[in-house]
Amino acid sequence: MAACGSSDSAPSRAPDLAVLTDTNPDPDIVEVELVAAPATVELLPGKPAEVWAFHDGADSDAVGTIPGPLLEAKLGDQVIVHFRNELPEETTIHWHGLRVPNAADGTPASQTPVAPGETYDYEMTLVDAGLFWYHPHVNGDVQVERGLYAPVRVHGGVEPDVAADRVFVLDDVKLSASGELSTQTDVLDLMLGRQGNVVLLNGKQTPAIGAAAGSRERWRFVNAANGRYFQLELPGHSFRVIGWDGGVVGAPYQAERVLIAPGERYDLLVELEGEDGDEIALRTVHYDRGHEIPDPGPIDLLAITLEAAGPPLGDLPTTWGDVAPIATDAATPRRVLILGEDDADPTNPVFTINGDAYPDITALTGAPGDVEIWEIHNMSEMDHPFHLHGMSFQVLDAAGSPIEPLGWKDTVNVPRMTMLRFAVELGGPGTWMYHCHILEHAERGMMGELEVTSTP
Ligand code: C2O
Ligand code: CU
Repeated sequence: MAACGSSDSAPSRAPDLAVLTDTNPDPDIVEVELVAAPATVELLPGKPAEVWAFHDGADSDAVGTIPGPLLEAKLGDQVIVHFRNELPEETTIHWHGLRVPNAADGTPASQTPVAPGETYDYEMTLVDAGLFWYHPHVNGDVQVERGLYAPVRVHGGVEPDVAADRVFVLDDVKLSASGELSTQTDVLDLMLGRQGNVVLLNGKQTPAIGAAAGSRERWRFVNAANGRYFQLELPGHSFRVIGWDGGVVGAPYQAERVLIAPGERYDLLVELEGEDGDEIALRTVHYDRGHEIPDPGPIDLLAITLEAAGPPLGDLPTTWGDVAPIATDAATPRRVLILGEDDADPTNPVFTINGDAYPDITALTGAPGDVEIWEIHNMSEMDHPFHLHGMSFQVLDAAGSPIEPLGWKDTVNVPRMTMLRFAVELGGPGTWMYHCHILEHAERGMMGELEVTSTP
């Protein structure tokens, strides 16, 4: 089952990610063709499943994969994505975490959705280095669950010397015994966000990699699951957290466990202790996010076999992310957003922000460059990961405790019955969505809009 052992010849992306072809010869322009279409993939070996997936439209041999193909680029690049919708329903592509012009944000608030057979061009300049991701923003709980999600890696900025720089996309799927995506949606799926019975890393159940004993690797994670939280653990090791959603943090820190809520990204360095031939498993352990979700015990995500030590690596950088604090004071305007759930009709739970369920909302308004403090009050019985489009924010405190180090987030978990505050400088003009990234919650009301308009 060491399916990935041989593909490990591309250590920068193993295991098993396709990469979009850059068709533009200009080194500072990345131009790609992206297609969303029905596809057949094996989520369990030997058990084909009908899914929806992305593939590379510039490669006539490309087939749909889960995750979809990685978009690789560097800071400052101009990116042009020619997108074609071959799904039986309309869709859009949202570039989660990238600070793009509103016309490229890929929501029904920023464009007319792309009808079946139609195309749309997304154009953006990359202003942040880090790991981001793309996914549809129409019927999101269904389309993302069917397999439409993929990573974006933007190189540049602080690049520590590592033996491998790997992208790991986490998900879970509810599969029937035949290996097909289950068509059953029960009330718990709506209430909690669908939790699958099979956990996937880069589209596989516990894939295997080889890594040099004693080496240092960079592992970048994104949680693309609808509802599952991942809490990473690598027995016998700790992680050095060097970056969050929007790039490298001001000061890295050690962590025994790293919690990743849906939509969040974490950038980690791992020193692989052990000898040639040792086996280690990266696993996820239970996190209590409310409503008494049972503890399934640790689940292995990745099997790592240590190999002969590699050449020595350079020292770690002495300075990390250059994150200037957003200046706030007692006069900074505050917004209060209250997250609520209404399960009066348990077969049809409704999720709200300030009592309103999307699309029945009043948009917030502001001007580009406005600095604000947002207070997110979670008055519900479970955690909600809060995501704001088009801008990154700095978390000030959570449940009364200050958050360190300084870093950029666009998605943050707000634990149940607590309050979290972040500072944000509003981005460019347009309508930007914000919502819970448990996609069943977003699609059942926990979503809002911020209209940024230049004042004359
Ligand atoms: Cu990743 Cu509005 O979403
Ligand atoms: Cu939620």
